[in-house]
Amino acid sequence: MRVGLVPTMGALHEGHVSLIRAARSECGFVVVSIFVNPTQFGPSEDFARYPRPFEKDLATCAAEGVDLVFAPDVATTYPPDFRTFVEVRELQDPLCGASRPGHFRGVATVVLKLFNIVQPDTAYFGQKDAQQTRIIQQLVRDLEVPVRVSVCPIVREPDGLALSSRNQYLNAEQRRNATVLHRTLQAALALIEQGERDPERVKRAITEPIAGTPGAVLDYAEVVDAESLRPLDRLQGNVLLAVAVRFGATRLIDNELVDIP
Ligand code: PAJ
Repeated sequence: MRVGLVPTMGALHEGHVSLIRAARSECGFVVVSIFVNPTQFGPSEDFARYPRPFEKDLATCAAEGVDLVFAPDVATTYPPDFRTFVEVRELQDPLCGASRPGHFRGVATVVLKLFNIVQPDTAYFGQKDAQQTRIIQQLVRDLEVPVRVSVCPIVREPDGLALSSRNQYLNAEQRRNATVLHRTLQAALALIEQGERDPERVKRAITEPIAGTPGAVLDYAEVVDAESLRPLDRLQGNVLLAVAVRFGATRLIDNELVDIP
């Protein structure tokens, strides 16, 4: 029987549920891991206040027919003599890695641990976290990890905001303005469709409306090669448009993939 794993940090929403359903449709046994992983949070990040509605998450998993919820504690996962970390060099540095040093080292390490414990045939990740997904694919390839990585599309609110456990931190005004991430990415895609191939001009279609949005502080807007995550001189091939914006202490990300022949 095929085993599917959906790694999460809990506070499950429809984005997570879409991964669970993908796993359900392909695997006879579905495992959801719920673990707020301390090693992927920076010292000034939201580890302590990250939402942990565990009973509600269990109910969601039960309703979705999940066979096993794996929710280890921090002390078991990282005993005092824990020494080993996984780094996916280069790919961990740009985009979210630039403002969250050490983040992807924590992600890669915990995901490899989860793979080793659960030994799934397939693991399900969301395109929402494009860099994370790319890093896991590289990790699996480089270390010959016998797990298939399946990437699921971004689930959005009706107004375009990508679902995220962190959306609940937003106040009403921030929540209204948060649609700027999706809107500017769509504007950038429209420019590309019209034939624009200059990454700087495409970037401007993202940064300028964000600069004009009250309360929004741009972290990054990047137009990169989807494989190497390196900047491009001219748009060609598989291109990732990625954006991160802060509203107060809340950092939101979104992205679009576009194939330019
Ligand atoms: P978490 O943020 O809980 O996300 C778990 C999975 O859900 C990730 O693969 C993420 O990309 C996916 N996801 C989140 N929002 C989504 C959306 N709107 N649409 C589709 N998929 C979405 O990502 C993590 O946890 C952690 O870094 C983890 C991989 C569990 C390692 O700790």
